[in-house]
Amino acid sequence: MAMASRVPICFCIFVFCLFISFHGLVSASEGGEGKAKEFVVTLDSSNFYDTVNNHSFIVVEFYAPWCGHCKHLAPEYEKAASVLSSHDPPVVLAKVDASDEANKGLATEFEIRGFPTIKILRNGGKIVQDYKGPRDADGIVTFLKKQVGPASAEIKSVEDAGNLIDEKKIFIVGVFSEFSGEEFENFTQLADKLRSDYDFGHTLDAKHLPRGESTVRGPTVRLLKPFDELVVDFQNFHVDALENFIEEASLPTITLFNKDPSNQPFIEKFFNSPNAKAMLFMNFGSELADTFKSKYHDVAVQYKKKGVGFLLGDVETSQGAFQYFGLQENQVPLLIIQTNDGKKYLKPNLDLDHIAPWLKEYMDGSLKPYVKSEPIPEVNNEPVKVVVADNLQDVVFNSGKNVLLEFYAPWCGHCKKLAPILDEIAVSLQSDADVIIAKIDATANDIPTDTFNVRGYPTLYFKTASGNLSQYDGDRTKEAIIDFIRKSRDKTGHQDSVKDEQDSVKDEL
Ligand SMILES: *[C@@H]1O[C@H](CO)[C@@H](O)[C@H](O)[C@H]1NC(C)=O
Ligand SMILES: *[C@@H]1O[C@H](CO)[C@@H](O)[C@H](O)[C@H]1NC(C)=O
Ligand SMILES: *[C@@H]1O[C@H](CO)[C@@H](O)[C@H](O)[C@H]1NC(C)=O
Repeated sequence: MAMASRVPICFCIFVFCLFISFHGLVSASEGGEGKAKEFVVTLDSSNFYDTVNNHSFIVVEFYAPWCGHCKHLAPEYEKAASVLSSHDPPVVLAKVDASDEANKGLATEFEIRGFPTIKILRNGGKIVQDYKGPRDADGIVTFLKKQVGPASAEIKSVEDAGNLIDEKKIFIVGVFSEFSGEEFENFTQLADKLRSDYDFGHTLDAKHLPRGESTVRGPTVRLLKPFDELVVDFQNFHVDALENFIEEASLPTITLFNKDPSNQPFIEKFFNSPNAKAMLFMNFGSELADTFKSKYHDVAVQYKKKGVGFLLGDVETSQGAFQYFGLQENQVPLLIIQTNDGKKYLKPNLDLDHIAPWLKEYMDGSLKPYVKSEPIPEVNNEPVKVVVADNLQDVVFNSGKNVLLEFYAPWCGHCKKLAPILDEIAVSLQSDADVIIAKIDATANDIPTDTFNVRGYPTLYFKTASGNLSQYDGDRTKEAIIDFIRKSRDKTGHQDSVKDEQDSVKDEL
C-alpha cells in the first residue's frame, strides 16, 4: 500500500507563537470582490524558478487556501502589490499555494512550517530572507520600499539620525573614519544579510548619534536598543563575530509578553531562539510584582549566558499562553521552562525565594517534566475511545490490544470528515475484543514526540498487541482502514493464514 502523502492533512504549527496576535491585521471582506486586475503574481512549481531567476528582488507569500491568517492578509497584500507595481523599480509580490500537492517541493525547499510565510528573494533567488514586516497594506509598502534600497543609510547629521532611528527598535550604526576598507566591507556585507531583521546606518561622526560616547577610537559598531543598557559598542569586524554580537545584544534580558505592536518582533525573536525558554506569568497588579520582577531579572542575568531565555507576562495579556499550556490563572505566579525538544517544567504558585533554586534544579536535570493532559474520562464507552495524555500509556501500550489511534485537532476539517468513518469502523469491529479504535485531541494533550511523529492532522497510528507501532498513511475509507487493521493486527488465539484473512475481508465487502 504505497499511498503515502497523497492523503490530505491539516497542517499544524507547533510553535508557541500561535497565540501572538499580529497587529495591523484588517478583516478581509471575503467574496464580493470584483474581477479587477490582480497585481499579485500567482506562481507554482512550473513557473517559480523562471520567474524568480528573472528578478533581483521578489516577494513570495506561501499560503494555504483554508488558512484564516492568509485570508486576512490577501486583500492587504494585493493592495500593497498594486501600490508597489508603480514603484521605481517595480517591486513584484507573488504567491504560491504551498498546500497544493504539486507545490510540495517548493514548500519543502523553503522550509514552510506555517501559513502564511512570506519570503524575500534577492539576486534571482540566491539570497532568501524571511519577511518580518507588518501585515497591513501601508506597512508592507513602507517596509518593502526600505528593503529594495541600500541596506545601510548614511547618517550625515543629527537630523538624519533623528529621521532614520526609531527609538522603539534596534538600530545598528557603523562608525568609520572613511567608507572603505575591510571593516566597512564586512559591515556592509552583514547589513545586507540581516537587513530584514534590523535597520542599519553608517556615519563618519559618532556625534550625530543620539546615544553612546561621541568620540570613538577606530571603526566601531554601535547597537542602539530600546531596553536594558540602551547602547552597546563592538569593535571586532569578523563577520561571524559581528553577527553573533548583534544577535546576542538584540535579545532583551527579559522579553516582555504584551500586545504592544513594537514589542512583537522581540517576542517572535524570543520564541524563535534556540534557547530553552523560561516564562514567568504573574499578576502585574499585585503588591509583590516589583520585587518579583527584580528577583527574576537577577536570575535572568545569571542564566542568560547559559542557554536560557527569559520572558515575563501579565496574567491579563497571557490568556493564550494559559490555554496553550493547559494552565489555570489561579496558579500564578507561575514559572514554566520549555526546552527545544518539547519538554516542559512547571512551577505553579511560585514563592519569591524559589526562583533561583528552581532554575538550578532545572539546570541540574533533577526536575520531572510536566505533561499537559485533559482529564481522564470517567465513562469511556463510545465506540471510539477517548485517549488523553494521562491514559495514553495505559490504553495504547499496556492494554495488550491492537490499537488504532487518531491524533486530531478540533478545528481541522479533514478530521471532521474522518470522524464518522472512524465511528463506523469502531462499530463494525466492536465485537472484536482485541481491537481498540481511539482518538486523542492533540491540541489539548501533550504528545510523546519521541514515540509519535505528528506533523499534521489527522495522523493515524496503529499499534499491534505485541507492540509494533507504525503510522497508517493509506486511504481514509472504512474499507481500506478495516482491511489494514485485519492484515496488521496480531492474531491472538487463532491461526488464520493471510489467505483466510483476505477471503474474510472479501466476504464482508
Ligand atoms: C525572463 O526574462 C526573459 C528575458 O528577459 C524573458 O524572455 C522571459 O519571458 C522571462 N521569464 C519570466 C517567467 O518572466
Ligand atoms: C572581515 O571578515 C572576514 C570573514 O569573517 C575576516 O576574515 C576578516 O578578518 C574581517 N576583517 C576585519 C578587518 O576584521
Ligand atoms: C512492524 O510493522 C511494520 C510496518 O507495518 C512491518 O514492516 C514489520 O514487519 C512489523 N514487525 C513485526 C515484528 O511485526
